[in-house]
Amino acid sequence: VPLRLDLVFPSTSAASRLIVGRGALAGIGRATARACAGAARALVVTDHHVAPLYADRVLRSLRRAGIAAGVHVVPAGERSKSAARLVALWDMCGRAGIGRGDAIVALGGGVVGDLAGFGAATWLRGVAWVGVPTSLLAQVDSGVGGKTAIDLPGGKNLAGAFHQPRLVIADPDVLETLPARHRRAGLAEVVKMGFACDAPLFAWCERNADALAAGMPEALEEAVVRAVRVKARVVRRDQREREGGTRTALNFGHTLGHAYEAARGYRGVLHGEAVAVGMRLAARLSVREAGLADAARARLERVLDRLGLRRRLTRVSVHDLVSAMRVDKKRDARTTRWVLTPQIGRASVPRPLDSRRIARALIEFGAQT
Ligand SMILES: NC(=O)c1ccc[n+]([C@@H]2O[C@H](COP(=O)([O-])OP(=O)(O)OC[C@H]3O[C@@H](n4cnc5c(N)ncnc54)[C@H](O)[C@@H]3O)[C@@H](O)[C@H]2O)c1
Ligand SMILES: [Zn+2]
Repeated sequence: VPLRLDLVFPSTSAASRLIVGRGALAGIGRATARACAGAARALVVTDHHVAPLYADRVLRSLRRAGIAAGVHVVPAGERSKSAARLVALWDMCGRAGIGRGDAIVALGGGVVGDLAGFGAATWLRGVAWVGVPTSLLAQVDSGVGGKTAIDLPGGKNLAGAFHQPRLVIADPDVLETLPARHRRAGLAEVVKMGFACDAPLFAWCERNADALAAGMPEALEEAVVRAVRVKARVVRRDQREREGGTRTALNFGHTLGHAYEAARGYRGVLHGEAVAVGMRLAARLSVREAGLADAARARLERVLDRLGLRRRLTRVSVHDLVSAMRVDKKRDARTTRWVLTPQIGRASVPRPLDSRRIARALIEFGAQT
């Protein structure tokens, strides 16, 4: 296995074992038995795309390791990150007899991870959980770091908890069945981690953009290993995303990204696609406000182009975008907050910028007046 890493948070004594590599999924039963010692039962939460592909393998491996495993399938898509689905999950935990010593296994993309992780954080005031991220986005980003949440009508990720998984198994072989569009969206987060946190990772993305865009298995595996290393380093120093902590760098591109998703009603635009446009805008602002070299901005745009991540904001108005950005953080109404990058691999703490100056850039990117 190319990467085995123990992510330990000294301040809370929480720890996650991260296992990344092709074929790693086969070892889930034994790894779970070790990481969640004493677990007699597990509830595997997954979605209806992933269940027919991988649930049986996971259930069999768990059972072979002596863990009585059941499965709970939710519809695929962001709308499953809802309060109603959380209540249904609690209900299922009750019926499956999940006790304090047992575990929840999240088998799926970021949606399943966020929902099942929050279920684990809250069921019986917290039970162990194991993440098996199956989308590229979840393997490189959401699967590591212990953020869990559901969406509310008022906004994305509004109710949630920090709850570290005991074990994360990221097996890039499962990416073979991931639709290309979702692969591209996940690559946006890899580029983000490079551009905002780790210059060598960004340069690696540039060198391998064609192989990544084509979904070459070796390239994807290396992307996941590299991104997980960077993510682990960033979150280790800042488990709960303190104000101005290192972890806020991971929000590069997300001020506009989240607003774009929200303004489109979470339909038609994938998270990674929205973040890609958000990074292009944030890089332009970084040139203007933080001294980023224009050549560095051009390199970012070029790599996003090669990965097939487009620049246009479609079917959205400046007004809706700006109001969604304000809702994101309830602050001064005339400003929105931005993570800027003074150079490749380095991010500033979020900074307030005047909304009027951003509106002009939004129009250039295709937003309607
Ligand atoms: N907790 C965090 O730190 C964090 C960070 C970033 C994003 N997120 C959240 O993650 C979510 C987005 O995650 P996502 O992009 O993985 O979305 P997702 O979970 O909806 O997965 C994308 C699609 O791919 C399918 N899929 C997943 N794995 C597959 C596989 N191996 N083969 C075939 N199909 C597969 C899913 O069924 C779904 O249709 C958002 O809700 C976002 O808020 C959380
Ligand atoms: Zn993101």
